Amino acid sequence: MALPLLINCGKVTSPLSYHFAYKFVVLPFISQTPPTTKMIDQQTIDRINDAARIEDVVSDYVTLRKRGVNMIGLCPFHSERTPSFTVSPAKGIFKCFGCGKGGNAVNFIMEYEQLSYTEALKLLAKKYGIDVVEKELSAEELAARNDRESMLLVNEFAQKYFTNTLYHHIDGKAIGLAYFRQRGFREDIIKKFQLGFNLDLRDAFTQAALKAGYKKEYLTKTGLTIELDDHRFSDRFRGRVIFPVHSLSGKVLAFGGRILKKNEKTAKYLNSPESDIYHKSNELYGIYFAKQSIVREDRCFLVEGYTDVISMHQNGIENVVASSGTSLTSGQIRLIHRFTENITIIYDGDTAGIKASIRGIDLLLEEGMNIKVLLLPDGEDPDSFAQKHNSVDFIDFVNKNAVDFIRFKTGLLLEDAGGDPVKRAGLINDIVQSIAKIPNPIIRSEYVKECSNLLNVQESMLYHEINKIKRNELNKKTVKEHTGEADGAPPVNVGEEPSIPDISKKVFDEEEQNILRVLIRYGTETLYYVDDTAPLSVGEFIIDELEKDRLQLNEELYRFIFDEYKLQSKSAGFNPERFFLHHTNSAVSRLTADLITDKYTLSKIHSKQKKLTSDIERLVDLVPRVIVEYKNSIIIEQIKQKLLELKKADEVKDGARIDEIMQDIGRLDSIKKLLSKTLGERIILKLT
Ligand code: CTP
Ligand code: MN
Repeated sequence: MALPLLINCGKVTSPLSYHFAYKFVVLPFISQTPPTTKMIDQQTIDRINDAARIEDVVSDYVTLRKRGVNMIGLCPFHSERTPSFTVSPAKGIFKCFGCGKGGNAVNFIMEYEQLSYTEALKLLAKKYGIDVVEKELSAEELAARNDRESMLLVNEFAQKYFTNTLYHHIDGKAIGLAYFRQRGFREDIIKKFQLGFNLDLRDAFTQAALKAGYKKEYLTKTGLTIELDDHRFSDRFRGRVIFPVHSLSGKVLAFGGRILKKNEKTAKYLNSPESDIYHKSNELYGIYFAKQSIVREDRCFLVEGYTDVISMHQNGIENVVASSGTSLTSGQIRLIHRFTENITIIYDGDTAGIKASIRGIDLLLEEGMNIKVLLLPDGEDPDSFAQKHNSVDFIDFVNKNAVDFIRFKTGLLLEDAGGDPVKRAGLINDIVQSIAKIPNPIIRSEYVKECSNLLNVQESMLYHEINKIKRNELNKKTVKEHTGEADGAPPVNVGEEPSIPDISKKVFDEEEQNILRVLIRYGTETLYYVDDTAPLSVGEFIIDELEKDRLQLNEELYRFIFDEYKLQSKSAGFNPERFFLHHTNSAVSRLTADLITDKYTLSKIHSKQKKLTSDIERLVDLVPRVIVEYKNSIIIEQIKQKLLELKKADEVKDGARIDEIMQDIGRLDSIKKLLSKTLGERIILKLT
């Protein structure tokens, strides 16, 4: 029965080949491949992957029960009362049918502990007693890395020194610790944030560090020590309490030092300077202590200062970070975006700083974040407010009073403008600018609706203004492209008017995933024998089918996997499932876990239908089918495009063009009929 099917499929592809070869618009190709980490050598990675049995790793965090060949438990990544979190020991993967998270053992650790790929591998290596062998770095890499590592070591020493002084030196206790206590900081919180104190002496710290063997070079590079003109040293932080600034993984990158007296002429806070390890605009105070809670709560609070973060933690609200007094940068936003899309910005009661900071918030909109704003009562900042209210009351207050950002901004500006018509016009323009920044057109339209109510102007008028802004942006961009002017900003997502379908992204997502699913699961299986002698594998068939129509997968990640498959399939003993599941790129391994999880497992169990023949038996049907479906979708999409062109040509009454398009559509249509016929036959075949 297999043979006629394949012949049928061959018939279908010939008109397509012609069509795609000459007519197909070349799909955008981004040659950049996802970055890989090559710090730990492959053998070590293999050993870790072999040792880390999924059920074993997950059991450290989740109670699992056996169910059939799988194990189930309550998902640690979202809250649920009936378990939908499934572990497949056979496949080495986990998958939550509730929230969709899934992957291999390393992915689980990354997600749960919020670690990088390398960090997760190291954690597992430790668990299983595997020595981590790291790959040789070039001399240059090594020097740069050594520099940074030495600076981190100096900072680590300094943090311990300052903490030690706080707890054990008589002045540290009497001045520093007393200050923290008087501010209401609990002992466990002072410890957790590794707060410290440095005495009011010229260079006591520097001398101690030098004596302990730390080099002058790194003491000055981190800014802990200042070298004076006469080559003498001075400590940067003197007579100040110290707040270490931690990286995402908990390393001390910098310090903030606060004066103790109110009346001093010097700045209240002194901070470490920018350095190779500290780029202030990319860091957020508190992120190391907040990341897990941000994921759990799916929200991040943004406050201004060190003490705000600390007091909120003390109060049990841990998903909080501070921008440290400066306006937010896109680097900082992306840092938060790794963990959540929801930000609630908390402002002090006095509104002085708000208007200035509002501009920076458009950046958040641009990054596609959902932003709320919370205004605290007069005279309160998050620090004082958290000290006065328990966490339940605090969150209650937030839920009752946090306002959506655009609404907040509109209200604020309306108040400002009063009845002045000129000011009102400026205000509308201002709001429209913010709305235009939102990348998601659906969310944008909701704001348009809302602002049309608030401002008492028609929606169409707001749309008109938004489109004008977008068109301007587009023009600017095109001019820049043509003049070759460098543009650092990421491309703005324009041209989203509903009449132009976006053919390049996600349109064929399901079809492309199906192709990968078959490729990864069955790529090396034999599909059939050519001339009864040479076997043709599933992978070869798929590659062949796409190449003869000059097709490549649209989605960058999919294309990466496809190309990687082509490369790897030539090496002996290639096992695609294993290879992609343990790929160093975690986007690849996660997707693979998804693809090899049987989506229909659950429904199958309940289904009373007779069990379908296994996939392997159906390969001869399945494989050509995913290809035909993919090609069919592409043709349908192209017909849609042609119909739009037809409409335009009709509007300008361009008779010749209309004829041309009609012919194209006719040709596409006949291909589509052929494809549909094959699809239809297949469905009938499958049911009998
Ligand atoms: N800041 C700074 N330098 C200053 C003032 C402020 O770097 N001279 C930064 C600090 O990171 C500080 C944040 O801006 O945490 C917010 O400033 P502010 O609200 O004045 O300080 P608080 O954190 O509230 O500190 P405190 O409660 O101790 O006054
Ligand atoms: Mn304060």
